[in-house]
Amino acid sequence: MGHIFTEVEEGVFRAPDADAPGGYRYRITNTKLRALGEPDENSLPVGLAKYPDIIDDCHVLLPHVEIVYDESDHVRWCHLFHDMEKTVPGRVAQEVADGFAWIRKIGGAERIPTLEMMNKDITAVSGFKLVQVMGLVPHNEFFKLLMDGKFPVTLSIRRENEFSYTSFPDIFHDLAGHAPMFLNEIFCDFVRKIGALGWKFRGDSKLQGAVSKIYWYTIEFGLKRAAPEQKQSCIAYGAGIVSSVAETQDSVESEYAADFDEQGNRSGGKRAINRLPFDLRRVLHSHYDYAQPQELYFVIDDYVQLSGLFDGDLEDVIRTETRAGGTVPQGTLLPTDKVIPTFYA
Ligand SMILES: [Fe+2]
Repeated sequence: MGHIFTEVEEGVFRAPDADAPGGYRYRITNTKLRALGEPDENSLPVGLAKYPDIIDDCHVLLPHVEIVYDESDHVRWCHLFHDMEKTVPGRVAQEVADGFAWIRKIGGAERIPTLEMMNKDITAVSGFKLVQVMGLVPHNEFFKLLMDGKFPVTLSIRRENEFSYTSFPDIFHDLAGHAPMFLNEIFCDFVRKIGALGWKFRGDSKLQGAVSKIYWYTIEFGLKRAAPEQKQSCIAYGAGIVSSVAETQDSVESEYAADFDEQGNRSGGKRAINRLPFDLRRVLHSHYDYAQPQELYFVIDDYVQLSGLFDGDLEDVIRTETRAGGTVPQGTLLPTDKVIPTFYA
């Protein structure tokens, strides 16, 4: 088909490989894949196929494309996984702790697991399926994937200096952070409904942005009440938290949000962390910045509470609150906020 590929940017390259299923083999070290040369009308730019179920230019890779990681990628995965394994006890929800044990059991503690290894169990339990993507998936396509029970997994893995904090998803975030929760059917029901609502609101960035806030403060950065016998009052289930050692520690037991220097070390943040009971309206008026460490978390009692959001007049509330407008910065508390103390008394 006339593809010409060669090494581009920081050791990332791909080459046609006649032996690989589908004819292409990708080698990923970091960052992006990029095509050089002129794709003809039949070619799929960089293998970023137009997936049959998805509309236009979605960055979903063909399922049969084989991904090849360097040994150094597996070493970084192993390092991240072992660090997180030591961090999760007592700080995360049972589903997340079970998820780390599950990943180890299927052979994912020492090497980056394949999506097939994980999908075998996930699809059997909840019907969800992990699909491979490169880069960030546009909002509409992202919500449609969730609605259809598919979760996009980024294939690149973070660098050493991003171990503590990375503002972009990578394969560790997606597989260690998100995948375990797809073994929970109630949670999956919530994710599908969020996807369907986001998809329904396509074309209206404000309404869709409101759905993104619910997604952000639950699926990415959600906390849950801890059992009364635990020291701290909250445990983590959000993927953005449980794929980072520092965020897992800070979100449940720190009084301050950490800043990070260029080496990825904490640099002594002094912004207060606040944990509030999950409240839909408060969530819809709360600002978030994907590039900054969290200062605000919302705490659920259980996952039924999330799924139950859709039993009521969720759409009306979103429309009303979006029309009303008004955004509260993360570091600002309202007089009505009932902050949850970090530790049980
Ligand atoms: Fe995520």
